[in-house]
Amino acid sequence: MNDKHGDDKLTPLPATAGFLPQDDPISRTEDPVDADEIDYLSPVEGHAASVANPDAKAIIEVRDLKMYFPVKSSSVIRRTIGHVQAVDGVSFQVPEGGSLGLVGESGCGKSTTGRLITRLYEPTGGSINFNGRDITNISSRQLKPLRREIQMIFQDPYTSLNPRHSVGAIVGAPLAIHKVVPKDKILPRVQELLEIVGLNPEHYNRYPHEFSGGQRQRIGIARALTLQPKVLVADEPVSALDVSIQAQVINLLQDVQREFNIAFLFVAHDLAVVRHFCPEIAVMYLGKIVEIADRETLYNRPNHPYTQALLSAVPDVKQAAIGGRRERIRLEGDVPSPINPPSGCRFRTRCPIAQEICARVEPPLLQIGQRHKVACHFAGELGQHPDRPVTTGLLGVDDSGAPDPGATPSALAADEPGYSDTWFDLERKTMASA
Ligand SMILES: Nc1ncnc2c1ncn2[C@@H]1O[C@H](COP(=O)(O)OP(=O)(O)OP(=O)(O)O)[C@@H](O)[C@H]1O
Ligand code: SF4
Ligand SMILES: [Mg+2]
Repeated sequence: MNDKHGDDKLTPLPATAGFLPQDDPISRTEDPVDADEIDYLSPVEGHAASVANPDAKAIIEVRDLKMYFPVKSSSVIRRTIGHVQAVDGVSFQVPEGGSLGLVGESGCGKSTTGRLITRLYEPTGGSINFNGRDITNISSRQLKPLRREIQMIFQDPYTSLNPRHSVGAIVGAPLAIHKVVPKDKILPRVQELLEIVGLNPEHYNRYPHEFSGGQRQRIGIARALTLQPKVLVADEPVSALDVSIQAQVINLLQDVQREFNIAFLFVAHDLAVVRHFCPEIAVMYLGKIVEIADRETLYNRPNHPYTQALLSAVPDVKQAAIGGRRERIRLEGDVPSPINPPSGCRFRTRCPIAQEICARVEPPLLQIGQRHKVACHFAGELGQHPDRPVTTGLLGVDDSGAPDPGATPSALAADEPGYSDTWFDLERKTMASA
């Protein structure tokens, strides 16, 4: 695509046009479906679940990323009295044209991670690499062109659109700011974009309040697509929508991803939402990634007690079909404060299988399968967690977490973004490979 001039045409998506009703007076968008019928793993009108491309290179690579927000005293001289450790050492990759899901409870640092990638925040530590280039500390002048490449879709379509601006002005603003197309080409481009997201292109002069929630989110998506980004950070893009509309907006995101080869970091607090869209999913708890794996592994063989609890809350269509249902695991207590997180494993205050070592030593995010990493001293499938910690030899500690003078800590315990060709086999306690 030509991103300098306005002559290039964005191709409307045939798939989008195919599954949307044509007779809606405002747009061709919403065709409510019964929420009970939604299975995020099943094809929806030709929308099979996204699959990973194992050959894709990483377009985003994040290494040991940290964001600590200062907490100020309420006195006149506002001293820094602590820090909110919103993101505390996360590493991951987002493949070109692919999608990584980022899931976890409220306050675990998902949005902060997304905002760091778009460089809305200056990270406290670690690095962010975009398309082979270190963008961690680039200047504000260098940031402007980068903003075109990495865009965001926000959670709330009611507050993220300026109610006083017409849809044309909202979608066209990035074109004018970045001077991507001549002035007289802005309107035709806006209309193309509205068509791409399934809205009536003639409605560019209407205002956000004239649209429904799902339609407003389509406007937000059109705005994010305006500059033809390579990466989209979608921060809970469907959470504010009626469940019957969620699947359609996810289908639209899938269409634009395939058409324009856009990489997604897809943030959600619910594992059901990311299941259809993300072949790879990272689970966050209190500023850290606790488990990351390909979709099949994460949903069928989660090894972290927190992922197991989250998954137990997700309706399982296959289980329901055979009359069964996963037993719900209820976590006790509240999420601790990120200002003063628990020592060792941050999940230990709510973990049903925590032992002494969990309070003393932080578990490393250890690769335990071809595309599977987990941060737990007692990693194992539900009901099969080992009695003794699996990490002692790697960390050079005994079962209680005290240093073991005879042991040598292993480099395996260091968390690198992506996966290695070899991994630690939990059962054999040796290295394994494909
Ligand atoms: N600008 C800020 N200043 C201070 N603390 C912040 C700021 N932004 C976020 N936080 C804190 O950082 C932690 C992580 O917040 P974040 O918004 O990233 O969580 P989240 O996972 O997106 O949650 P939610 O699901 O509610 O959106 C929270 O404790 C939050 O209060
Ligand atoms: S390391 Fe310990 S506290 Fe943390 S999840 Fe594993 S068992 Fe639970
Ligand atoms: Mg958030």
